[in-house]
Amino acid sequence: MAKKSDTLVQIRDLVVRFYTYEGIVKALSGINLEIQREETLGIVGETGCGKSVTAFSIIALPPPPGRIERGEVLLNTNGSTIDILKLPRERLQDIRGHKISMILQEPSAALNPLFTIGDQIAEVLIRHRSETFIKMALEELERDIEAAEKSGSSFRAWVYRTYAGIYRSLLKNRRSLKARAASRIPFLRRYRRKLDAVLRKEVVGLLREMRIANPEGVFDLYPHELSGGMQQRAVIAMALACRPKLLIADEPTTSLDVTVQAQILDLIRDLKEEFGSSVLYITHNLGVVAEICDRVAVMYAGQICEVAEVKELFKRPLHPYTRALFEAIPRPGRGFVSIKGTVPNLVNPPPGCRFHPRCPRATKICSQEAPKMVKAGRDHLVACYHYR
Ligand SMILES: Nc1ncnc2c1ncn2[C@@H]1O[C@H](COP(=O)(O)OP(=O)(O)OP(=O)(O)O)[C@@H](O)[C@H]1O
Ligand SMILES: [Mg+2]
Repeated sequence: MAKKSDTLVQIRDLVVRFYTYEGIVKALSGINLEIQREETLGIVGETGCGKSVTAFSIIALPPPPGRIERGEVLLNTNGSTIDILKLPRERLQDIRGHKISMILQEPSAALNPLFTIGDQIAEVLIRHRSETFIKMALEELERDIEAAEKSGSSFRAWVYRTYAGIYRSLLKNRRSLKARAASRIPFLRRYRRKLDAVLRKEVVGLLREMRIANPEGVFDLYPHELSGGMQQRAVIAMALACRPKLLIADEPTTSLDVTVQAQILDLIRDLKEEFGSSVLYITHNLGVVAEICDRVAVMYAGQICEVAEVKELFKRPLHPYTRALFEAIPRPGRGFVSIKGTVPNLVNPPPGCRFHPRCPRATKICSQEAPKMVKAGRDHLVACYHYR
């Protein structure tokens, strides 16, 4: 469990709106949320309450035509704090896929049908960790040079030295003129083979960690040749390739069958332990939350209404909406209990507490003034006038 003082990401007063023909959709209205180091934080809530918009806003990519109007997303790494929403585009590219990566509901959407699985994962590695792999290729070449010299093959040693020269210039400058020229000359182009071999080894290792059987074979397959569960594993491999500090998972198992779902959940849990990443796990499914989350935030209509540790929330749900969500879990012999009414249209959300039109406990004040988040126990926050 994470230490409480150890915050990785802090979302402060985040406001996101969509400007549409029907009006302004107030998708997020002042979200405050913290993600601790090495914890799994769940976000639950009905469809359309803003879970995905929150996730995408953390990497400053609200789905178009969404606009981040206000707020901060503070990322604490290596002893410094940066506001992701204020970073210039080049720095953002560095954060996405490197410090923070994301997996989505449909694995096929994250995979390019034109490239093999292996090449796509290798691409992520070379994009974010090129230096490490170029250095590894150089080290191998130096061993090759030595071996060639020992065996008296001075021509081979010369060739390897030429390749090593290209790698050294790449280390100095990723867009090195020398390397670009070499890529156009048939004989010199072979310098890439060393780097490709190093990358292949790393990717195969990653695929093996994802418990993919026959990782060597899968490296050369195209996405359509894999099942949904295998595709999702490949996407997770891609997401974890750079050991991100935060993995955002937006309903990653919804399109999979239950046994594969259980395997993927196991995998995410084990990998989190191994890499020490934090996970933001978005789902409708409270069973999944109980299974893998340390803490949970409950969202309703673009706001967070309750945050607590998972055990505490299951034992003592305080917000009437959270209770209604628990009530709605189907149980044998009790029939199906749905929450009355629907999620409000966020073009004109109700005034006061947004849940009040559906709330059994609502009183006058609930329709007049939005309740503030209050502390209702150790690490338990709730926004409701009547939670007692
Ligand atoms: N591209 C868009 N254009 C206009 N409105 C949008 C767009 N994307 C999302 N919204 C609105 O933003 C709100 C939040 O949507 P979001 O996708 O975050 O919901 P969600 O909680 O992820 O739902 P689900 O569980 O169905 O994935 C919704 O009211 C939705 O209508
Ligand atoms: Mg969503």
